[in-house]
Amino acid sequence: MAESMKGWKRTCRCAELSTENVGEEVTVMGWVQKQRNKGGIIFVDLRDRSGLLQIIFEENDCGAEAFAKAEKMRSEFVIAVVGKVERRSGAVNENLKTGEIEVRAAQVRILSEAETPPFPVEADSKTKEEIRLKYRYLDLRRPDLQEKLMLRSKIASEMRSFMAKEGFLEIETPILCKSTPEGARDYLVPSRVHPGSFYALPQSPQLYKQLLMCSGYDRYFQIARCFRDEDLRADRQPEFTQADMELSFVDVDDVIDVNERLIQHICREAIGLEVQLPLPRLKWQEAMDRYGSDKPDTRFEMELVDVSETVAGCGFGVFTSALESGGSVRGLNVKGQAAMPRKKIDALVDFAKGYGAKGLAYLSVQEDGSYKSSFAKFMTQEELDRLVQAMHGEKGDLLLFAADKKNIVYSVLGALRVELGKQLGLIDESKFNFLWVVEFPLLEWSDEENRYMAMHHPFTMPMEEDWQYIDSDPGRVRAKAYDIVLNGVELGGGSVRIHQNDIQEKMFEVLGFTKEQAWERFGFLLSAFKYGVPPHAGLAYGLDRFVMLLVGAENIREVIAFPKIKDASCLMTEAPGTVDEEQLRELRIAVLPEENEDESKEEK
Ligand code: AMO
Ligand code: AMP
Repeated sequence: MAESMKGWKRTCRCAELSTENVGEEVTVMGWVQKQRNKGGIIFVDLRDRSGLLQIIFEENDCGAEAFAKAEKMRSEFVIAVVGKVERRSGAVNENLKTGEIEVRAAQVRILSEAETPPFPVEADSKTKEEIRLKYRYLDLRRPDLQEKLMLRSKIASEMRSFMAKEGFLEIETPILCKSTPEGARDYLVPSRVHPGSFYALPQSPQLYKQLLMCSGYDRYFQIARCFRDEDLRADRQPEFTQADMELSFVDVDDVIDVNERLIQHICREAIGLEVQLPLPRLKWQEAMDRYGSDKPDTRFEMELVDVSETVAGCGFGVFTSALESGGSVRGLNVKGQAAMPRKKIDALVDFAKGYGAKGLAYLSVQEDGSYKSSFAKFMTQEELDRLVQAMHGEKGDLLLFAADKKNIVYSVLGALRVELGKQLGLIDESKFNFLWVVEFPLLEWSDEENRYMAMHHPFTMPMEEDWQYIDSDPGRVRAKAYDIVLNGVELGGGSVRIHQNDIQEKMFEVLGFTKEQAWERFGFLLSAFKYGVPPHAGLAYGLDRFVMLLVGAENIREVIAFPKIKDASCLMTEAPGTVDEEQLRELRIAVLPEENEDESKEEK
C-alpha cells in the first residue's frame, strides 16, 4: 500500500550527504537500488539522480513496523526515510561518493511499490537498445543516462547565460510554418480551417531569424526544435535541437569570434576542458584536398595525396581513363600496414565501393623493397617508383588509390581514411579538435535534379570577388559560409546572408526558381528586404551533437530523453499512429492505398 508524503519534506538528495553531515537528522527520498537482509539488520541502497546512499535498518532504532516495511522492500520501490547520518559501521565503500557514511533509519514510508523491472536499472546496462527504448522511463533512471542529460541541461543553461551576457535576445519562432528550405523533406501538418493547405514544421528558424534582423533585434538566440524528414544516422534525428543565432552589422570574423568564446566557455564550464583560441581555420578546398571531407577529423594524419600528375600517361588504364575524363587519382599511405591480409584489403575495397568507388587499387612496399600490387603489371618499374615516391611510401607501407570523378575520390578516400583511423586505433580519443571550415562553394551541382543547388541555403552571401562568375562558372563561386567541426563531426554551420534584393533574386534564378515561384515561396522575405535590412549573419549548432561529443556518447540517442529509432518511430509511445476516421474527415484527408498494393493483389 502506497503511503503519502504528508508532513514529510525531503531535506536533501542522497549523494549530497557526506561526513560533514554526521550527526544530522535528514529526510531522504528515492528508489530502492537493492535491499540486503542480513537477519537483524537490513541494508538498503537508496538512489536518486545524485547517486546512492546506504540506509541501515535495525529494529531497535526504527521499531517493528518500519522494520517490517524494510523487509518487504524490493528494487525500484519508492521510499522516504527519516534518520541520522552516521559514519559507516562496516567497511568504507571507496567506489561510492557516500561510501564513508550511512543513514540509520528512524522512520520509513513506502511511497510506491514496484513490479520487477524488465531490466536492471544500472549503469552500462547490457540490455538491448530496443528494450531500453520501449521502457525509456526506466532506462532514463540509469545513472549514466542521467549524467548525460544533466550535462545537457548544464550546457544549455551555460549557453543561455553566455549569450545573454553578450547581448543576445532569446526570441521564440513558430513551429507551424511555411516550408523553410534547408534541403531535407518537410514534416507537414494539415490545416483544419484551410482544407488542402498544410503547415510545415520548421527545418530551422532560418527565415524568421533573418526577419528579426530586419526588425532591428540585432542579436537573436534560441534553443530551437527543428524537424527534418530524412534518413536517420548515428548523429541524426528527425526532430533535434539547434542552438541558433543571428547577428546584425557583422561579417564572418565577428560570428567566428563570438562563437569561439562561446565554445571555450561551454567546454570550460561543462567538462573542464580548456580550448585554445583562435581555433584553426581550413578553407573548404584545402579540407577536401587533405582529408577528402568538409568535416575532417584532424586527430590523426594520413592525409590524401594527389598523384594525378604522377600517373598521367602511365600504363594503368583505370588511372589514365579517370584522368582523361576529367577525374583525379589520389591515394592514402597507410603506414606500416604492408602486411595487411588480403581478406582485410578486400573488405576495404568493398567499403570503398559502398561510397561509389569502382574499385580500390593497392600497392604495398615489402621489407625487401619490392612491391606487391593489384596494378603493378600495368606499370613500368620507373612509373611505380615515382608513384611510391610521390606517396612518401617506405618499406612496410600500404598505399591505396582511388581513380574517379573528383567528388567521388574525395568521398571514398575521406570515408576510408576515417574507417582506417578507427580500425587501426590511430585516433587519440582524448583530443577535442575543433576547427572552422570556411569558404564553402556557394552551389553544388545535383545530377539528380539536373541543376545547381545551394550548398548551405539560398540565403547565403557569395564572396564578393567571385560573384562575377555567377553566370559563366557558377560552381566556382565561393560563399561566406562556415562550419564548425569537432572530431570529424559537423557541429554547426552558418553564413553571412544576402541582404540585397538583386543578389537574392539572382540566387533564386540560378537555383531554377522563376521570379513568380520565388515570390510565391519567399515573398515575405523579399518584401521585408525592401524596407531597410541590415547586413546580417548567423550560425546554428546541433545541440544534440554538441552534447554527444562533449559527453563522449557514440550515438545522438544517448543524449536525447525520448529519441526516435531508425525508421523515425518511437518504441515507447508507438508514434506515429493511425488516427480516427473522424479526425481525417474533419481535415478532409483521405489516405490512399499503397501505390503497388492493387497490382500485387492482382498478381496473387
Ligand atoms: P544546418 O542545416 O547546417 O544549418 O544545421 C545546423 C546544425 O544542425 C545540426 N543538424 C542535426 N542534428 C541532428 N539531427 C539532424 N537531423 C540534424 N540536421 C542538422 C547539425 C548542423 O550543423 N539555418 C541554418 C543555420 C544558419 O545558417 O544559421 C541551418 O539549419 O549539427
Ligand atoms: P581491374 O583491372 O578492374 O581488375 O582493376 C585492377 C585494380 O584496380 C583492382 O585492384 C581494382 O580494385 C582497382 N580499381 C578498379 N577501378 C578503380 C578505380 N576507379 N579507382 C581505383 N582503383 C580501381
